[in-house]
Order: sequence, then structure tokens, then C-alpha cells
Amino acid sequence: ARLAKYVDAVPRLPSPVPQQAAAYPGADYYELTMRQRPWRFHRDLPAGQAWGFWALGAGGPMGLGYLGPTLVARRDRPVVVRYRNELPTTHLLQSAVDVTLWRNVPGVPPDPPGGRMPQNFPSLPNVWVVPHLHGGFDSPQSDGHPEAWFTPDGLHGPVYATVDGARPNEVVYAYTSRQHATMLWYHDHAMAITRLNIYAGLAGLYLIRDAFEDGLPLPRGDFEVPLILQDRNLTSDGGLSYPDRGPTPYHPKWNPNFFGTIPVVNGKAYPYLDMEPRRYRLRLLNGSNQRFFHLWFQDGGTRRPFWLIGTDGGLRAAPLRLTSLLLGPAMRADVILDLTGVPAGTRITMMNDAPTPLPQGDKPVPMPEIMQLRVSKAPSGPDRSAPPDRLSLRPVTPLQPTHGLPRRQFVITANRDAHGKSTHLAINQRFFDDPVEEFPKVGTTEIWEYINTSGDGHPMHVHLVQFQVLNRQRFDSKAYLAAYKSWISQGRPPASKPVLAPYLKGPVMPPGADEVGWQDTVVAYPAVVTRIVLRFELPPPIDGIPGTRSEFPATYIQHCHMLEHEDNEIMRPWQIIS
Ligand code: C2O
Repeated sequence: ARLAKYVDAVPRLPSPVPQQAAAYPGADYYELTMRQRPWRFHRDLPAGQAWGFWALGAGGPMGLGYLGPTLVARRDRPVVVRYRNELPTTHLLQSAVDVTLWRNVPGVPPDPPGGRMPQNFPSLPNVWVVPHLHGGFDSPQSDGHPEAWFTPDGLHGPVYATVDGARPNEVVYAYTSRQHATMLWYHDHAMAITRLNIYAGLAGLYLIRDAFEDGLPLPRGDFEVPLILQDRNLTSDGGLSYPDRGPTPYHPKWNPNFFGTIPVVNGKAYPYLDMEPRRYRLRLLNGSNQRFFHLWFQDGGTRRPFWLIGTDGGLRAAPLRLTSLLLGPAMRADVILDLTGVPAGTRITMMNDAPTPLPQGDKPVPMPEIMQLRVSKAPSGPDRSAPPDRLSLRPVTPLQPTHGLPRRQFVITANRDAHGKSTHLAINQRFFDDPVEEFPKVGTTEIWEYINTSGDGHPMHVHLVQFQVLNRQRFDSKAYLAAYKSWISQGRPPASKPVLAPYLKGPVMPPGADEVGWQDTVVAYPAVVTRIVLRFELPPPIDGIPGTRSEFPATYIQHCHMLEHEDNEIMRPWQIIS
């Protein structure tokens, strides 16, 4: 049966008041416990089971049942979170757990034999998690390395870390919040199971406020609305469903492409938002596993314009008027929608027409309507926010690459077996746990090139750094890939690595107007070289909080943020050295 549209109000994600803990002077302290609880995704469905983070609120545990509460941080004021895993020891999506992932591909001997994950468990099934603050400027110990996982019964991954004493089913992570006001998000990042853990609900928002933002005439309070946009499949008994078989025999439960058909916003399917005829600040997160959104606002027969004022890492230099916006998985957009003077009764639909997958759309799973914005309330008071075109935001100074450093190249490949079935994706044709090959020096600024030889666009995400998009350039992907693969089959002799330049085609293209700013995720299009500029700094230790000093070499990771992809090898560590 089709779900009725726009019958549930979009929930406001709860925001707990931070505790002050004697052990962490000068920091805001939260405890976030992961639990499985009932959650109703839609009025006409029974409550199903979902996963979420629960905070301690004044009146008891605070959470929806799905997703997590929004943490609100002040710039430069540390936040300490004790994350606890009280999930069941059987996964909510147990039939889709694929323990063959990681270093278990045809032609490559599994290491260790049988694949990587099961070796670590005395018995399966089990549920391993590790939280990561996406976009945060934090020490490696608090970054949530994929192999720093922990289970409800207290098993730990090989690089488990906690900055302070924790019970076996916990970690304590400390976040610096030393960055511009913006919207980050926290989510699960555990090896080979992230796609299922986030799908089940392990994600939440983390807002950073600062004095500059405080001084801007922006819509606030009820008129600032954070929205987590996701695609999901729901069963008739109200639960989440996810495919439990895939096209490749090597990873029988893994799917290179997954797209849900039901839009879920802050946990409700096809919700509506009651609004006043005034300006709103929408804080959008694409929290889907793999689906890109190309968003627009349908208002009668027209597209209502809106203003982009910020990206992943904070405010833009100036507002940008748009009629549509591409938002890749994990990316955020800070948007002003001006409904001043809009007649009562107006219904605006948030629409999406991004192809699946991006850009060629050869596996179409459309999800055109997301939610409804209803001008249904009388103005509750004067609108003190400024018209968006009159906002003066924060300068974004272009990063200057350090003179004389070579560009680092990251070749994206989609690998197939002899029958054309997808086996895994890769960066530089390495596995996640191959030795580190990239060692940027602290204090330097580098150019990285994503050379995408696959057929899909990939949202590439780098931990720790808010970077800038430099430019893009097409290249002859087929010819370059052939040369690259033959070089690999020769054992990668350093002297004969194929040079990219002869394969480049056409002009250097500047970033899109909507990409000029601070980003932690960038879309790498197929047959295109995508260049970004990154400055490498390490967060200083947090005063009074043990275990927050970043030691050299400091290990971080980068990966494609399509969760099905990052779960299958398109993820690599890199290290900052002194
Ligand atoms: Cu949003 Cu490595 O993560």
C-alpha cells in the first residue's frame, strides 16, 4: 500500500542541556546511549523497531527512538561525550550483515583467512559500533576510527581508544569545537557495517554556534529548522527494510547500489512542516546511505528561489540565490527560505530529481517528493531577520597551496569480477588496511586530485579538514585506467607510474558557485579529475581532559561517503607527520 503523504508533522529533534561534569572542567558533557526502541515512521504504520542515541534530559532519557538528539556547541568550548552501546547483540538488520567484507575479494587471499571481521568475535552475531563526529576538528583518539569499534558486550576493535575511563561498552570522546559556526553530524563509522548502523538510525546533528553568527540577523529559534533527509524502505509492520542479498557471490549480502523509495525527514515519512509567512533558516543534512538529492521547492507551477548561506564547514562569503541545489550524501546546506508575504494556505513541496546513481541514472529509483512546507500559521511576531540578499556573511580566504609540494593523486576504481559483478571499490587500488601511503606534513597546504575512473559520482569525504574545491577537469578515463591497471600489474614501478597530464581533456573548470566555501565532502564525477585544497593542522590538546593530545603520526581517514561503498574498501587512512 502507498503511504499517505503529508499526514505527519516533521519532528523537531530534541536538544539536551549539557551537563557540567567535575571530571571535565570547562567542557560541556553528554552521555549518549545507543538503544533499540519502537519508533513510528508514519501515522498509518505501526511502530517498528529502530536505533537511536538517547541523552539524559531533565525528565529522563531524551530521544526520538530513531536518530539522535541535536548537540549544540559553542565555538572553542570543548564537548565531551560518553557514548554507550546498549544495543541488542543481534543486529536490527541481521540478515543484511555481511561478514565477508574487508580484504576478501577474488584473486586476493583473505587476510586473515576467512575475511577480517569474524575473526574478532568469539561468536556471531554481534553488533559493533563506533561514533564519529563528521566534519569535526578532533584528535585521532576521538575521531572514531572504523576499527575502534566496541560491542554491547564489551568486545573492542584493534584500535579501540577512549580519552578517559570508560566501561567496556563505552567510549569517551572529546571534541574541540575549534571551528566556525556550522552544522556537523555524528554517526556510526564501524568497519563494514556503517551502512546498516546508520540506516537503522545511528546519526544525529551537532551545531556549532559562534559570536559572528550570533551577530547576524538570521532566523532563530522556531524559525531555524534542522532537517535530516534520508531515503528508506519500510515494511508494512512499520520497521526498516534493507536488501539482504546482492549481485556478487563474494559478498552475498552486499549491494554496490542501494536507494530507498520513501523519504524520511527527522524520522517521519513524507512529513509536513507548519510555517508562518516569514523567513526560515533550514539546516539540511543529506543523511542517506547513497542517494544524492537535487532539491528544489515546488510552489504552484514555479520553483521558489532560496538562498544558500553556508556549506559543510560554515558560512559562505555571500548568500547565493538558487532555484535548486545538489546535496550529496553527508553534505550539509544552510539555506534561507523567504516566505514573507506568502498567502495562508500555500503548500510548497520539497522536491528531488537527482538521478540514481549520479550522474547517469541507469538504475532509476525515483523519489521525487520529500516533504511539504505549509504556510498555515499566522505570524507570531515581527520578523527581525534580514532579507537574505542583504546578509553580509564571512569572508572565505582562498587557501594557498604550499610551494613545491606535488599534488597527491587518488585514483577511484570500481572493480569487477570475470562475470562483470561488482567486487569492491578502491582508492589507489589499495585496501583499507594496506600500509599508509600519504603523509602530509603539519602546517602545509596540499592539492589532492580525485581521478574517478568509475561510472558513478562519489561524494569523497576527508576527516579532520574543512577544504576548498579548487577546480575540475575532464580526462580520458578509459585510456588512463588501462595505463593505470597495466602499471599496477607490473608491480607499480615508481618510475613508470602513468602521468595524468596527457589524458586530460578540455579546460580547467572552476567549482560550482554553490561549492565555493568550506567543505568536508566533494562530489568526484566520473571521467573528471576533482581538485581540492587542504590545510593540515592538528587540534591542540584540550586543557584538563586526559588523552586529547594528538601524537605524530596522527591517523585519519578519507572515503567515499556512499555507505555501501565505504563499507567495501573505498576508504583509506592517511597520517599527519611533524
Ligand atoms: Cu561522515 Cu568518515 O564520515
